[in-house]
Amino acid sequence: PTGNNSAEDLTTEVLLALSKADPILSAESFPEVPFESLKAALDRLASRSMITYEQIERQEAFLEPEAEIIVSHGSHEARVFEAVHKAMGGLSIQELEAEVGDRNVTKVGQGKAFKEKWIKKEDNKLVALVDSINDVTRDQLRTIQEKRTHDNKILADLKKRKLLVVRKAISFKISKGTKFALEMVKEETDLTADMLASGSWKSATFKPYNFKALGADQHAGALHPLNKMRHEFRQIFFETGFTEMPTNQYIESGFWNFDALFVPQQHPARDLQDTFYISDPKKALKPGPVSPDDKQDYAKYLESVKQVHENGKFGSIGYRYPWSEEESLRLVLRTHTTAVSAAMLSRLASESSDGRCRPARYFSIDRVFRNESVDATHLCEFHQVEGVIADYGLTLGGLMEFMEKFFEKMGITDLKFKPAYNPYTEPSMEIFSFHKGLNKLVEASMFSFLLSRNRVGVHWVVQRETNKSKQIGNSGMFRPEMLECMGLPKDLRVFGFGLSLERPTMIKYAISNIRELLGHQVDLNFIEKNAAVRLDKN
Ligand code: PHE
Repeated sequence: PTGNNSAEDLTTEVLLALSKADPILSAESFPEVPFESLKAALDRLASRSMITYEQIERQEAFLEPEAEIIVSHGSHEARVFEAVHKAMGGLSIQELEAEVGDRNVTKVGQGKAFKEKWIKKEDNKLVALVDSINDVTRDQLRTIQEKRTHDNKILADLKKRKLLVVRKAISFKISKGTKFALEMVKEETDLTADMLASGSWKSATFKPYNFKALGADQHAGALHPLNKMRHEFRQIFFETGFTEMPTNQYIESGFWNFDALFVPQQHPARDLQDTFYISDPKKALKPGPVSPDDKQDYAKYLESVKQVHENGKFGSIGYRYPWSEEESLRLVLRTHTTAVSAAMLSRLASESSDGRCRPARYFSIDRVFRNESVDATHLCEFHQVEGVIADYGLTLGGLMEFMEKFFEKMGITDLKFKPAYNPYTEPSMEIFSFHKGLNKLVEASMFSFLLSRNRVGVHWVVQRETNKSKQIGNSGMFRPEMLECMGLPKDLRVFGFGLSLERPTMIKYAISNIRELLGHQVDLNFIEKNAAVRLDKN
């Protein structure tokens, strides 16, 4: 058997070999045929009961290059002995080395030949003690070369001497089956009209159905883990009466991203090293109606924002600096989806009549951008999950209760709240938690870096696991400076919160490096194979 046969030939060869001897061992009859082809041929034959076979697993020994040399030239000690024996009157070490032609062989072989008492030293010369020797190592290796195996002790010894490697080999013991024949009968896969008409169906052999066959891989499209997680979050929001905000626009003016949110123009978050600015075009149009039914009085709104920043208004003393309209019109890649929340709240205000406006719940899950150096846990962009609730009589306690219920739906309980700082919310709270399902503390995902005045919080830093609870989100009650500028009623309260989509996704899929989740290093296989997300709901 040659081994480079087509599948057809291989089945014929197996049948032929079986007709001469039964059973046969594939390791002997088809040593060269690759495992996969042989297995395929055997499966074809076995499915027709022409053969039966069983798989045999055994260890096979293969010679290392050095061992091959020993097989052809003899062991080191034998080569030393032969050289010494051949020379009349013995050899000096130098002469021996020249004779053997290999320093290492001479050195190792000499030692062994001494030990075997084949040679001895006499007057500074090496002389032979015996007339002939048995080159055991060579014989052993030769046997292994042929049989791929030997005594366990011998194998272990030679393996230790690095003369061979042992690998697991799978072979087959093949026997005749109940329908053994020398030729494979053509099996019909379809019952045709012709066969019925001619009556040939009576003698035809039909291929049995293979109910165990798995369908071919469809390579259909697959959802990215972030999309699956996003789906789960959206479900939670929809269940609790939220409307999705239009976040399909990544570029915002500084006005919506910062000024409307009472982020002062000198705030470090607005620095080049934290925010990406658009170079072409550089400037946004002045904020104005986004649709015919947008009734916001933008002139008044902008003036209020300016006043709030410069001197204060609505009970605020402001930041007391000259506010620049130019600066507010610079275009940025939005650093948070709160820019969209601000625009939505302004729209809500524009819908109000008689100083009353309806309660609202908005959410979004979309991309935000921050100018960061990329490492295992930082990318320049991430997906922010944001929720905003506007209603009368909302309290901080209500926000805490809402957050507890929200996170509970994700299997996250025992929240802890810590006072924090956002320019646009007061009070603000960082949310910390313990994840029960994972039975470990949830790692931090901090968003507040941009916004805390002292820049203590660092956004999107994954802290090392400590015994402390970990931050999972940022939240707060929006300031009256922000809401009243828009024309929202004084007694309307709005609270909001933000978290990242990446963090829970990484936890769910046990990903430790964010680059395995996003970007060019992502393994498409992983995307295709990963399971659906089901948050641990109660
Ligand atoms: N914008 C905040 C952040 O990026 C999240 C947030 C939204 C906080 C709404 C309070 C209110 O971290």
